[in-house]
Amino acid sequence: MNVFITGASSGLGEGLAKHYATPGAIIGLCARRAALLDELAQAITAQGARAIVYAVDVSDTAAMQQAAAAFIDICGRVDLVIANAGIGIPHRTLQGETESIAKLMRVNVIGVTNTVVPFVPAMLKQGSGTLVAVSSLAGHRGLPGRAAYSASKAAAMTFMDGLRLDLHGSGVHAMTLCPGFVHTPMTAVLPGKLPFAIGCDEAVRLMSRAIAARKKTYIFPWQVRILRFFLRFGSEAMVLRMAPPARTRAPE
Ligand SMILES: NC(=O)c1ccc[n+]([C@@H]2O[C@H](COP(=O)([O-])OP(=O)(O)OC[C@H]3O[C@@H](n4cnc5c(N)ncnc54)[C@H](OP(=O)(O)O)[C@@H]3O)[C@@H](O)[C@H]2O)c1
Repeated sequence: MNVFITGASSGLGEGLAKHYATPGAIIGLCARRAALLDELAQAITAQGARAIVYAVDVSDTAAMQQAAAAFIDICGRVDLVIANAGIGIPHRTLQGETESIAKLMRVNVIGVTNTVVPFVPAMLKQGSGTLVAVSSLAGHRGLPGRAAYSASKAAAMTFMDGLRLDLHGSGVHAMTLCPGFVHTPMTAVLPGKLPFAIGCDEAVRLMSRAIAARKKTYIFPWQVRILRFFLRFGSEAMVLRMAPPARTRAPE
C-alpha cells in the first residue's frame, strides 16, 4: 500500500505511518521537522517498508504540489492520502489578535486542501484511492476558547464532504476522521483531565479501521459520538458547561 501522510513527525501521524509501514509499502512522510521524519523513516525501513521524507510546510501550496508530484512519480499508484497535520494554538481573540488565527487557518484548512487535491487527478486516473482529512469533534460546534480551531475543523470536514460528492462513482473516496481527545503532544499541554481520552495506539487502530471501511465521517471513540450529539444540538448554556474555556483553551 502506498500512503502519503502529513503531520508524520509526531502523535497520530507518526502512529499512522508506522501502522501502514508493512513490507513492500511506500510511505510518504510530510511535516516540517526533518530530523524527526528521518528518525521515523529509519524505523519504517526496519519494518520492511520504504519511507520518503518531505520536509514541507503544508500551508505552502507550491511545495505541497511538488511533493505530491514527486510521490506519485515514485509510487505510480497512490492508495491513501491522510491530511493529518494540524495545530491548536492559544487564541487571543478577546485581545483582538488575528495573526495566530490566520496561521491556524493556513495549516488546518489550506493545509488539508494542499494535501489532498494534488492527488485527485492521479487517483481518478487509476480509479481508486482514499483521501482522508483529520478533523475533530471540535469541528461539530464552535467551542469557547477554540472558535478558530472549531471553524477550521468544520471547514476541513465540509470540504471533504463536497469532494466526496465530486468523486461519486469514480472509485475514489474522500472521508473525515473526527477524534475526541487522544493522548499526543498536542493534548499534553491541555490542563486537567481530558474526558474520554484514548491512547495514540488505540486511536490509530480505530482510524485505520474506519479508513478500510471507507466511512464518510467517523467520530471516535464511541463515547464521543454520543457527546457530539449533545454538542451539536444542545443549548449554548449546555455547551458552556460541557466545554468550559478553562478546559478547551491551551495555556499561553
Ligand atoms: N490529539 C487530539 O486529541 C486530537 C483531537 C482531535 C483532532 N486532532 C487532530 O489530529 C491531528 C494530529 O494531531 P496530534 O494530536 O497528533 O498532534 P501533534 O502530535 O502535535 O502532531 C501534529 C503534527 O502536525 C504537523 N504540523 C503542524 N504544523 C505543520 C505545518 N505547518 N506543516 C506541516 N506539518 C505540520 C507537526 O509536525 P511539524 O511540527 O514537524 O511540522 C506534527 O507532526 C491534528 O490535525 C489535530 O488537530 C487531534
